[in-house]
Amino acid sequence: MKTIDDLEQQLGGLRGKRVLVRSDLNVPLDHSGDAPRITDDGRVRASVPTLRRLLDAGARVVVTAHLGRPKGAPEAKYSLAPVHARLAELLEGVDVSFCPVTVGDEATAAVEALADGSLVLLENVRFNAAETSKDDAERGGFADALAALADGYVSDGFGAVHRKHASVYDVAQRLPHAAGGLVAAEVEVLRRLTASPERPYAVVLGGSKVSDKLGVIDNLLGSLLTSGDRVLVGGGMVFTFLKAAGHEVGKSLLEEDQLETVRGYVRTAAEKGVELVLPTDVVAAAAFAADAEHDVVPVEAIPADRLGLDIGPNSAETFTAKLADARTVFWNGPMGVFEMEPYAGGTRAVAQALADSEAFSVVGGGDSAAAVRTLGFADSQFGHISTGGGASLEYLEGKQLPGLDVLG
Ligand code: 3PG
Repeated sequence: MKTIDDLEQQLGGLRGKRVLVRSDLNVPLDHSGDAPRITDDGRVRASVPTLRRLLDAGARVVVTAHLGRPKGAPEAKYSLAPVHARLAELLEGVDVSFCPVTVGDEATAAVEALADGSLVLLENVRFNAAETSKDDAERGGFADALAALADGYVSDGFGAVHRKHASVYDVAQRLPHAAGGLVAAEVEVLRRLTASPERPYAVVLGGSKVSDKLGVIDNLLGSLLTSGDRVLVGGGMVFTFLKAAGHEVGKSLLEEDQLETVRGYVRTAAEKGVELVLPTDVVAAAAFAADAEHDVVPVEAIPADRLGLDIGPNSAETFTAKLADARTVFWNGPMGVFEMEPYAGGTRAVAQALADSEAFSVVGGGDSAAAVRTLGFADSQFGHISTGGGASLEYLEGKQLPGLDVLG
């Protein structure tokens, strides 16, 4: 992948050049107060070094990004305006403006108004239906409009590189382009996770659905993991594993249609000598609420009227022990409903185990990244906190990512 240095050379310097940067500024927002509040600004912070690099070189920086999944038209709750405010704080000393549209006359004027070393953030690129269209011509037309705003393109939104979207994929075909520092760093980490990783290798999988993780489990058991490695499963998805192992799971999340697939995983793991570690106890609650009645119960005795919302303390201890001597760890998905304190113990234990470990540890995924930060851990306690959820998973599935392929 070409670097920003390469692009600088290709453009004959960056001073005065208009550079379109695709960042991933898709951050969680809390709308319960008077104004929306960013609850984890990790992705905004991660986008800053590339922007600084360009601004310091005198480029006129045009940032495009998405927030949430609007349906191809403007929706106030998905506006990037709160992100603009945070970005302006982080880029202290830089003139950071906001343009309420993505393309067209107003966007052109906003870009023309830029001085060297200043930046404009364009409104949510997904307010335009063509951004995510499956139709190549429609996406291409929108990419033309984006490309008209700039002399060069920098792909730095790692979290979105698995999307074949106009601002991620098509625009790179229309402008001299480069990978930003964040994309380059994330790819380097994923290479380290997949090409001759140190073993034992432990993968911790959580989150609500096993169906979201099928590709990655296939690839883990198919090629990435070998005898002596381990897969630890928690989160809502674990109840499909527990049911497949013959336990009743009460009202817990369950994907009946995945039971056979999961049984297949159990067989393959056993054949390969990969240890599949499931919880032995869970926190079972009367309702999905922080103040609901809840107890720790063994997995053999989950009451019919309860739902499991976290792994239990014995399981947390086992998981900690299984992570202690691992040399490489990849973690995707919380162990429980960490946003509610009674169900945060499992996620906290895994985060602590990684913080204490000497393994090369990677926390992948928006939810897991938000979890460790919400629970008070610092980024520096982990080998790497990825800004990409789906993107890291698809890389680990061995898939081609359109937003990376196009940079080659
Ligand atoms: C993410 O949150 O994983 C990225 O920002 C991509 O968002 P998307 O899944 O809505 O494409």
